[in-house]
Amino acid sequence: MTEQRLPDPALVVLVGASGSGKSTWAEQRYRAAEVVSSDALRGVVGSGRHDLDASTEAFALLDQIVAGRVRRGLTTVVDTLGLDADRRRGYLDLGRRHGLPTVVVAFDVPPALCRQRNAVRDRPVPAPVLAQQLRTARSVVDALAGEGWDHVVVLTDDAPAPAAPEPAAT
Ligand code: CTP
Ligand code: MG
Repeated sequence: MTEQRLPDPALVVLVGASGSGKSTWAEQRYRAAEVVSSDALRGVVGSGRHDLDASTEAFALLDQIVAGRVRRGLTTVVDTLGLDADRRRGYLDLGRRHGLPTVVVAFDVPPALCRQRNAVRDRPVPAPVLAQQLRTARSVVDALAGEGWDHVVVLTDDAPAPAAPEPAAT
């Protein structure tokens, strides 16, 4: 699907398995302060971005930052896996309460592409964990249309690689 023009300011919630391209997408479109990332906050309160022991505190901070920004009407991108229905519901209610357009962006990329990107990362997610995330993400994508978001964007990222350039005419 092509990317529609998204409202700004807005509350933008990302959804997708690890390696589906959420943070890359956000970084290309939003200012760093607008993107609130659970990985980054694990790195702040924990020993690093992958310190799962720091998840509870990282998510508490994330919720506080998101609430503070949304209350002020500031564009906020929630960069987490986004797979938990209760958390999504909470963000949706928050955005509505403060009159911000609510946007969900799902990264429904081919599982093989996710696995391939994951495999070459510094700290790959274990294969069974990624497989579970991919299954959950697939079912979440189907549920999003019924959740009440103002905009649902599903990015598939399965465009064929660009054709090789024509050899220069001699
Ligand atoms: N990547 C890519 N091309 C894209 C998107 C991502 O090559 N169109 C690469 C990134 O450079 C990165 C990896 O794929 O090395 C994962 O992308 P990232 O945006 O970090 O994925 P996330 O969904 O944010 O993964 P996580 O949930 O683990 O944060
Ligand atoms: Mg990320």
